[in-house]
Amino acid sequence: MIPAPYWVSYPDIVLLAGAEPVVVDTKLEDGFKLTPAALEKAITPKTKWFIFNSPSNPTGSAYTRAEIKALTDVLLRHERVWVLSDDIYEHLVYDGFEFSTPAQVEPKLKDRTLTLNGVSKAYSMTGWRIGYAGGPAELIKAIGKLQSQSTSNPCSISQWAAVEALRGPQDFLADWVKAFQERRDLVVSMLNEADGITCATPEGAFYVYPSCAGTIGKKTPKGDVINNDEDFATLLLQEEGVAVVHGEAFGLSPFFRISYATGLEALREACTRIQRFCASLS
Ligand SMILES: Cc1ncc(COP(=O)(O)O)c(C=O)c1O
Repeated sequence: MIPAPYWVSYPDIVLLAGAEPVVVDTKLEDGFKLTPAALEKAITPKTKWFIFNSPSNPTGSAYTRAEIKALTDVLLRHERVWVLSDDIYEHLVYDGFEFSTPAQVEPKLKDRTLTLNGVSKAYSMTGWRIGYAGGPAELIKAIGKLQSQSTSNPCSISQWAAVEALRGPQDFLADWVKAFQERRDLVVSMLNEADGITCATPEGAFYVYPSCAGTIGKKTPKGDVINNDEDFATLLLQEEGVAVVHGEAFGLSPFFRISYATGLEALREACTRIQRFCASLS
C-alpha cells in the first residue's frame, strides 16, 4: 500500500518484487498525510507492506510523532502488515519540526518494520549510491543475499565515504536547513501569489507540491488549453522555460512538483515566470 502522492519509484519497486501496488490518495487539506481511518479502510487480507515516507518526496509533508502514533496504532491491529519507512529526508525539516519514525514511535512494530535511509539527501552524496536499512535480522539477511547475487555490493570507497559523512561533524546541517527553509518560504509565498495556484507549506524535504486546479480549463494567449497537470507543466516549459514535474507522475492530480534544491535567485526568477504564465491565462 502506497499513499499518493508518492516517490515515482515505489510502484515499480513493488511490481519488480512481484506484488501489486495499491495506491491510497491523500488530500491537500490533510497536508497530504494519510489519516488513520484511510489506512484502516485500505488494509485488506492481501495487504503485505505499507510504504511510509516522511518527509515526503514529492510533497515535503512530514508526520508528527502523534500522527505516526495514530497510524502505528492501526498497524498494531494488523499483524500481517509490514512497514517500510523511507527516512531519507530525516534531517531536512523546518521551523523546529521534530523528525520521528514508526519503529521509534512504536517499538512493538520493530519486528516487522524496515527503516531505510541514505546519504543522498542530507549529505548531497547522490552520486555515491549508498543507502542503508535497519530491520529484523532475517529480513536484512535476505536483502543481503539478493544484493550479493545481483549488484554484489556498493563499492568500498563509497561505503567509507558514507561512514565519514555519518560519523563526521554534523554542524553544517544547521546552515543547510536554514538555507532550505529560506528557499521554501520564498517559493511558497511566490506561488501563492500566482493566479490559480494553491501551495501548502511543507514541513520538510526540498519540494513543494502546489495545486494548479485553478488553471485547469484556461487557455494560454496562443490558444492552448490546459486540460490537466501535464498540459500545465508542458505549456509552462514551452512558454517560460520553467521545468516542473506534473502531479500525475506522483499519482495525484492536478498538482505539480518543484524542487527548491537550487539558489534563491534562480528560484525567484522561476516563480516570477510561473506568476507571469498564470497571469497570462484566460
Ligand atoms: C523518497 C525517496 N526515497 C529514496 C530516494 C533514493 O535516493 P538514492 O537512490 O539517491 O539513495 C529518493 C531520491 O529521490 C527519494 O526521493
